[in-house]
Amino acid sequence: MADDDPLHAFEADHVELNDDVIEVVVMVEAMARMPHDRGIGVRLADRLATLRDDLVMHFVREEEALFPGLSAELPSASDAIAELIALHDEICATVARMVHMAEVPDRSVGLIPVFNRFETAYIKHAQAERALFELAAARLTPVERSALATKLRGPSSG
Ligand SMILES: [Fe+2]
Ligand SMILES: [Fe+2]
Repeated sequence: MADDDPLHAFEADHVELNDDVIEVVVMVEAMARMPHDRGIGVRLADRLATLRDDLVMHFVREEEALFPGLSAELPSASDAIAELIALHDEICATVARMVHMAEVPDRSVGLIPVFNRFETAYIKHAQAERALFELAAARLTPVERSALATKLRGPSSG
């Protein structure tokens, strides 16, 4: 049954992304303790760049495939989806800024408030998306779930 669940792949992504964010949290805490350590800043910038790319790819799949399908099958979720898209933009903006701040010693301290805004948006987004997925799990009929799964697979894979 889980293999037929159109949300399953996204939930698996969430586990990986959460692990990546936890790594970044640990590195930001290390940077805060040692703001003049260039090595930490370089490693953090590299880790943030990977996180940025992974988040962008995940958000693209949600916004171009999952959310339109969910909106079609579950119109009452449209407001929640609009809020999630706004949070995607906020998350991407803060991560992109941190990528360019982490390597620069005199800017790395300024990274902390940007990181705090990222963390707040990331947690809010995770909670809101979990609520959306729970709503979908509770409200979609088997036929609607199948229709959503077909949309996510795309026309080429039938
Ligand atoms: Fe997601
Ligand atoms: Fe999302």
